[in-house]
Amino acid sequence: MKTKILEINPKRIDLTRIKMAAEEIKKGNLVAFPTETVYGLGADAYNREAVAKIFKVKGRPFNDPLITHIADIKELYKLSEQIPSVALKLAKTFWPGPLTLVLKKSEIVSDIITAGLDTVAVRMPADNIALSLIREAQTPIVAPSANIFGRTSPTNAQHVEDDLGGKIEVIIDGGKTKVGVESTVLDVTITPARVLRAGGVSVEQLIEVVGEVKISKELESSFRSPGMLNSHYSPQAKLILVEKKRESEVEEISRLASEYKARGFKVGIMAKEENQNKYNRFEVKVIGKGNELNICAANLFSILRSFDEERFEIIIAEGLEEHDLGLAIMERLRKASVPKYEY
Ligand code: TXA
Ligand code: MG
Repeated sequence: MKTKILEINPKRIDLTRIKMAAEEIKKGNLVAFPTETVYGLGADAYNREAVAKIFKVKGRPFNDPLITHIADIKELYKLSEQIPSVALKLAKTFWPGPLTLVLKKSEIVSDIITAGLDTVAVRMPADNIALSLIREAQTPIVAPSANIFGRTSPTNAQHVEDDLGGKIEVIIDGGKTKVGVESTVLDVTITPARVLRAGGVSVEQLIEVVGEVKISKELESSFRSPGMLNSHYSPQAKLILVEKKRESEVEEISRLASEYKARGFKVGIMAKEENQNKYNRFEVKVIGKGNELNICAANLFSILRSFDEERFEIIIAEGLEEHDLGLAIMERLRKASVPKYEY
């Protein structure tokens, strides 16, 4: 299959091109499109066969449920008939935006989307291309991140092409995504609401609106959100995350880097800007300033991919502070990294 790349300027949407992509969705084909978080691989939510193609193309197990994207709050009432007031309050505050709400599903939602769960995950993306595509397709669009299963999520159209080129009908190229990490997944079927995946809306922001949220422990979230069980976000290189306190992290990373270099590996370090000059003997990529977590999030996946492109074999990553977007970044780095006993 030849994948058509449709370039669309998010500031001046070319509706003819959006319509071309929407036609593919209507026909039951797959379209990769930008959202504010990462690129999604979209299919018509009400077409089972189209949805099944997503799993096939990504190599994604069927036990990993999908997020349904809407462009109009009215669609929410079709997807769920039990919407607690807290969910409406959150939707009003954060939509369109990087927050996914998990709600009891209605009959209309097929179990291929929900992996057999009785809940559905819904979000309204804050991206004009995504919103126009959903509107023109006249259907909610289910979309996981548009990467091969287990790999780093794509934050530009080239990343999508690298993973899925030749396997899907259309990739809309709308440039680099703004947030860079996926949406926050929040289960609002229980009180207090529970964060199943940290993401673009921070826990601090959620607490400001609803007062209290719970954060799932790894195992709990694996149970409630089956997709979280699987190893994720992995670059091809082996990633080692060093979660030391400030004083010793540079030392520990330099020690590890020397060790791997001596063994003949191509080693790269992902460092905060303030530390980049402390690793003079090594190759360093900068994620951003440690106190500019939004920028770090926007750079994260793209840096991991560039280490792979340059055939690094070992990536040693500095940790970041776990507040605001730092929580989402660290969750992803932990999942991408090899367990300690494997070093
Ligand atoms: O930002 C995002 O969320 C991106 C863009 C494309 O919207 N999408 C995304 O989708 O990251 P995906 O499939 O890569 O991750 C969806 C996450 C998985 O962890 C999955 O387990 C969880 O959402 N999820 C989906 N439906 C769920 C449900 N009913 N209950 C609990 N978790 C659910
Ligand atoms: Mg994903």
